[in-house]
Amino acid sequence: METIKGFKRTHRCGELSENNIGQEVIVMGWTQTYRQLGALTFIDLRDISGIVQLSFSEDISKEAFDKAQKVRNEYVLAAKGTVVMRSAVNDKIKTGKIEIQVTELRILDEAQTPPIAIEENSNVKDEVRLKYRYLDLRRPDVQKNLITRHKIAQIARAFYSENNFLEIETPMLTKSTPEGARDYLVPSRVHPGKFYALPQSPQLYKQLLMVAGMDRYFQIVKCFRDEDLRADRQPEFTQIDLEMSFVEEDDVMSVNEKFIKKLFKEIRGIDIEIPLRRIPWKTAMEKYGSDKPDTRFDLLLQDISDIVKNCGFKVFSGAVESGGSVRGINIKGGGEKFSRKEIDALGEFIKSYRAKGLAWLNVGETEHRSSFAKFLTEDEVNAIINAMDGKPGDLLVFVADKNSVVFDSLGALRVHVAKKLGLIKDGTYDLLWVTEFPLLEFNEDENRFQAMHHPFTAPMDEDIQYLDSDPGRVRAKAYDIVINGCEAGGGSIRIYNSALQQKMFETLGFSDEDAWERFGFLLEGLKYGTPPHGGMAYGLDRLVMLLTGCDNIKDVIAFPKVQNASELMSNAPDVVEQKQLDELFLKLSEDIKE
Ligand code: AMO
Ligand code: AMP
Repeated sequence: METIKGFKRTHRCGELSENNIGQEVIVMGWTQTYRQLGALTFIDLRDISGIVQLSFSEDISKEAFDKAQKVRNEYVLAAKGTVVMRSAVNDKIKTGKIEIQVTELRILDEAQTPPIAIEENSNVKDEVRLKYRYLDLRRPDVQKNLITRHKIAQIARAFYSENNFLEIETPMLTKSTPEGARDYLVPSRVHPGKFYALPQSPQLYKQLLMVAGMDRYFQIVKCFRDEDLRADRQPEFTQIDLEMSFVEEDDVMSVNEKFIKKLFKEIRGIDIEIPLRRIPWKTAMEKYGSDKPDTRFDLLLQDISDIVKNCGFKVFSGAVESGGSVRGINIKGGGEKFSRKEIDALGEFIKSYRAKGLAWLNVGETEHRSSFAKFLTEDEVNAIINAMDGKPGDLLVFVADKNSVVFDSLGALRVHVAKKLGLIKDGTYDLLWVTEFPLLEFNEDENRFQAMHHPFTAPMDEDIQYLDSDPGRVRAKAYDIVINGCEAGGGSIRIYNSALQQKMFETLGFSDEDAWERFGFLLEGLKYGTPPHGGMAYGLDRLVMLLTGCDNIKDVIAFPKVQNASELMSNAPDVVEQKQLDELFLKLSEDIKE
């Protein structure tokens, strides 16, 4: 191992055990704690592998003992000594049975008192942790996440290589090709007024690699999307990206199921049964209100539109009349668990999903308490309770709105309620594919169809006939892998025929000129003999988050960004010098100069 100032490290701290008793060892690391007890001094020394106790006494070495008196938390030390049994065993640490009687000590570096405690599960505020991320990263639990991340990346490299995928890099400075999110732009100095875009994904390049005959490609690659951050989203994140030639959906899904199986086995020791269950998108929406359903608990959505379409409660009948629906969830036994105040809080919760309100009904033996029953006939109320399989003690909650709002709000509410009631068992994993996505979704703000996945996704053969007459009905050859209600990855079979690709752009409202201006290189590429191809991409950060059991993606990224997309340690983004702007022919707007 390493040699420093004549000391050659023999072991990592956490590697030592009773097997080393009697051996002379040299360890290096940081001071976790120090205790000075008269004639004895103890230091807990920490490195990435764990902690070992150093003991100092004047009898063993006066010089080392004296030096140890100067040591403070986080000092960096190198210590030589003999491994001995410890008089007081510490069961909490791996090396708790032994200690090192130090004969020689070197203080490699001193340290100021750190602004955050270096310990597991410390509850320091995020801003401080991220400003001093290098200290935060000294914490064993955070280090463990990065070690798991490393292992996952290694398993991915090995798995895809063994399956004939070639690791090929694609450019980071690319042409802006709108794919959904906003691009991060990079001004060009050499081409005044022109911009590169950082890739939202290597989508077009990997397809062109298939045109180029590379057969199978993968890459662990940074992607950039200027979008609002959430617990599972970062502006720059990493994909395990892959593409295959001469394949259909089942081929891509089956290789990837094997990858996921291997990953769960090697990282968590869990046997995943494959093939994974497949749920068509429509079913996922209707039962779970989400295209990334968490099926570890029930709380299924029920449609009561037919029962209430002519009822006297205008909120309900009105929603159905204008093409929406009324759907509800039966919170079994919820009558007792939710007070009026808590039901109101659920109503507030769903407002952030654009729902206007939450109607509720507490099922009783004969009398029911409810926010809306007074507007309905007794028969209607009974029909609703029946349809919802309501039993005395159940709490039924309903949202009436256009479908997208009903699904979004109830989909989120079911997860919220499940967490609140502790319906999700820790450490359980639920994996499935969502398939048969619609090819297009209607963008109401822009009054046009847009690609649900991306414009290169192939429509299902049997649905191509509806592309003109009923675009909303066309299903895509697309699939998402969902783990515990989180979209861990997704992909599709691509359009490989340039006429169909052009037709797709037309449906999306791009003029011929527009399409060629933006995607010409792909359209041109598709003309020269393209293998049928498809692929997918995993969010690596999300996979690590799921496999480590973290609930925020920031915990598995070495230097993550915060909500407003800044990085607190380096303070990026930041202003630049006027000279740099001049070289790029950029002028800042007067509004932001201050
Ligand atoms: P998609 O846009 O679905 O597909 O992205 C693939 C996967 O990447 C992860 N992901 C993110 N992770 C963290 N932060 C983000 N902002 C973020 N955005 C996406 C998700 C998602 O499932 N080119 C296609 C893939 C293909 O068709 O082959 C693509 O990028 O886990
Ligand atoms: P109101 O007559 O306005 O007091 O409404 C009666 C009940 O209907 C209240 O519990 C509201 O929260 C609920 N409510 C209002 N709008 C909706 C909606 N769009 N969907 C479901 N419930 C609603």
